[in-house]
Amino acid sequence: MLKDPSTKYRPFPPVTLPDRRWPDRVLTHAPIWCSVDLRDGNQALAVPMNVGQKLELFQTLVKCGFKEIEVGFPSASNTEFTFNRRLIEERRVPDDVWVQVLVQAREDLIERTFDSLAGAKKAIIHLYNSTSPAQRRVVFGMSKEQIVQVAVRGAQWIQERLPRLAGAEVMLQYSPESFSATEVEFALKVSEAVMEVWQPTPQCKMILNLPDTVEVVMPNVYADQIEWICRNIKNRDSLIISLHTHNDRNTGVAATELGLLAGADRVEGTLFGNGERTGNLDLVTVALNLYMHGIDPKLDFRDLNAIREVYERCTGMTVPPRQPYAGELVFTAFSGSHQDAIRKGLNEWSDNPRAHWDVPYLTIDPADLGREYREVIRVNSQSGKGGVAYLLETQFGIDLPKEMQREFGPIANDAVDRLGREVTAAELKEMFWREYIERDKPWDLKGFETENRNGLVRCRVQLLRDGAPAELAGQGNGPLAALVNGFTTAGVPRFEIAHYSEHSLSSGDEAAAIAYIRIKHADGRSRWGSGVDTNIELASVKAVLSALNRS
Ligand code: KIV
Ligand code: ZN
Repeated sequence: MLKDPSTKYRPFPPVTLPDRRWPDRVLTHAPIWCSVDLRDGNQALAVPMNVGQKLELFQTLVKCGFKEIEVGFPSASNTEFTFNRRLIEERRVPDDVWVQVLVQAREDLIERTFDSLAGAKKAIIHLYNSTSPAQRRVVFGMSKEQIVQVAVRGAQWIQERLPRLAGAEVMLQYSPESFSATEVEFALKVSEAVMEVWQPTPQCKMILNLPDTVEVVMPNVYADQIEWICRNIKNRDSLIISLHTHNDRNTGVAATELGLLAGADRVEGTLFGNGERTGNLDLVTVALNLYMHGIDPKLDFRDLNAIREVYERCTGMTVPPRQPYAGELVFTAFSGSHQDAIRKGLNEWSDNPRAHWDVPYLTIDPADLGREYREVIRVNSQSGKGGVAYLLETQFGIDLPKEMQREFGPIANDAVDRLGREVTAAELKEMFWREYIERDKPWDLKGFETENRNGLVRCRVQLLRDGAPAELAGQGNGPLAALVNGFTTAGVPRFEIAHYSEHSLSSGDEAAAIAYIRIKHADGRSRWGSGVDTNIELASVKAVLSALNRS
């Protein structure tokens, strides 16, 4: 890297807009969405989608609720052409969905594009040419006037052919490609020249798409550019202003959101941000950002995992684990304090689901996206007792007393630390079973009978003590008191029961009860124990033995 990057790179000149209005606005409704997955996304794949994959992704986009879908660049390849024909001929496009096709300002390509649209019901014809200084100089070697002429000729070739689509509803779209790197005055000039040809009206608008083809400015500058165009272009009310951001500086979402504040009506992008280089705008993020502010995004991501699956299968791309909303890990907390806070927040939410969502560390309820609560917490050596307890409770209905969590949490963490990896809920349960339920040394219960005479309970207990048969007898005002008395009588150092609780285990082949007991020895030491049995009395007896065995 250079010591002084200014010798090679320069800042981008800002737009003069001292009375900019967008910073004071708020978003209140969803924009018009247009998916460009099948075109911009597809053209950025090492192996572009075949017709079958495109059909599957198209269906998924329709299911998500997209009403405008750029289906391809039909003049660019046979696959693209065939795909468009199949959509139309096989009547796969719902009546309320517009198919959008992209074309350069070349007559032969425009001709072929019209061929591909025969029989379409709703079509958007999207014309583009590039307008930035670098493109004018390096790629085309054209003056500004020549670039305007390219756009105007393209617009005319399209206009001349419109009667061929007489039975269809047609919308026209123009993009000054590389808009954000173009002088705003020139972008306005070329756009108005195209408007001159197409003559949009408030009743029959055209789409003016203003691409951040390569993201070269900060989002606030893009917003200034959009507001400047919205305020200066003629017949603004005859235009649908559209945004099309990319992600070269990793701010495509921010640029889009500020561009909407600046007056845009429509947003183009792709699922999960697939697209050239660093990708297109991630539509899912922008839509769900609206949703988490209580705004209906008019897109349906209630089964985001399934959408992600189709996307990954069709494109061969993978959604990064930390991708907002959709990534594998975004509803997973590894830190103990986060887990604890989430657990408390989720409990508060389940007690009062009519309140507004305000769960620490979770901007959105994973369940709204078809993602499961059990994804929220996994346990590794950094986790606290809260996460451990949460998993045992949600996955197995094991509701550890608070104080017992304090004892088992560090035990589990040490075990996870030794493993050196994250553990599943099932592994945690095994740890709990090993630590408490399966303890049978020195005391192993073989039989327990009681009889109750006038409130005095007598018990007889058959045991193995370090493998050797033993028997106890005791009495008290309940089975546990009788058991404690039996141990004391047999010479075991005195202890008392300081905590007792139990509940049934929710389901499964262990349809049983679990008991938690804390015993306190005469010297002040205390130990937790736990027992499981289909008989609640036996579960509590086993819990006493578990605590003794751990002493
Ligand atoms: O990024 C871009 O500028 C494009 C245009 C063709 C709209 O994809
Ligand atoms: Zn693009």
